[in-house]
Amino acid sequence: MEKLELKNIKNVLLLGATGGIGGAILDYLLAQNENLNVYTLCRHPLERQRVHSHVAPQVNEQSLSQFISLYPSVKFDLVINTIGFLENDLGGPEKSLRDINEEKLLEYFRINTILTPVLAKVVRNNLASEGFAFVSLSAMVGSIGENELGGWYGYRASKTALNALLKNISIEWGRVNKRSLVLAIHPGTTQTRLSEKFNTRVTHKIHTPSEAAENICQIIFSTEFSRSGSFLNWDGRSIAW
Ligand SMILES: NC(=O)c1ccc[n+]([C@@H]2O[C@H](COP(=O)([O-])OP(=O)(O)OC[C@H]3O[C@@H](n4cnc5c(N)ncnc54)[C@H](OP(=O)(O)O)[C@@H]3O)[C@@H](O)[C@H]2O)c1
Repeated sequence: MEKLELKNIKNVLLLGATGGIGGAILDYLLAQNENLNVYTLCRHPLERQRVHSHVAPQVNEQSLSQFISLYPSVKFDLVINTIGFLENDLGGPEKSLRDINEEKLLEYFRINTILTPVLAKVVRNNLASEGFAFVSLSAMVGSIGENELGGWYGYRASKTALNALLKNISIEWGRVNKRSLVLAIHPGTTQTRLSEKFNTRVTHKIHTPSEAAENICQIIFSTEFSRSGSFLNWDGRSIAW
């Protein structure tokens, strides 16, 4: 069984640590491993012991490169991107084609999709060669196979594209390191800022952020390196692309 062990990891790079699920992942990891350090880049200050937090007005290739260059000798065992949005100043998810807005579509892709391969690029020389996991939070609605409702054009497509890019990253890294685990994970519907407006209509289970964090970490530390390139649900089952 070749997989990453939570008790052995030392350095985690976490994006979205100010968010509902990202914050809960931070709490979970710090509580489970007292030797672990977390490195994070946020839009707002985050003061915590064992958390090396930096603030930038925008999270993008430039700010991420600068941030990682501060730690040339740190090798990350785990990199998790939990940054994402569903609604912004330009409005919420599209109900139909009449709601399509070019600028908002681009923003969905900039944040929900493009940040992940940019992160992979800038962190690629700082990954622990003896084994690492690179995870980005995706969403069930990004599955083309399970799309029965339509709508949410930008959010859906940005997560579908994210999944495609993660698969690509898994192939590139898998060629040079068999102990690399690249995953797209759906956290399950979770009570956070992102979802609070939409959860009133949900009939299935809504997780607390700490439940979601535990489920996500459970997947990361129980999935073998050989399954790199998977799109997984919070309970560990594979989701159709
Ligand atoms: N909650 C759910 O039900 C659910 C379901 C499926 C998938 N997901 C996915 O899970 C991930 C985490 O979501 P969440 O529920 O924890 O949401 P959340 O509480 O709203 O947290 C979102 C995080 O993303 C950051 N962020 C958003 N827009 C950003 C931007 N333009 N630049 C930099 N950072 C930005 C936020 O930073 P600030 O604190 O600075 O705003 C925050 O840290 C997302 O990728 C989401 O798509 C969530």
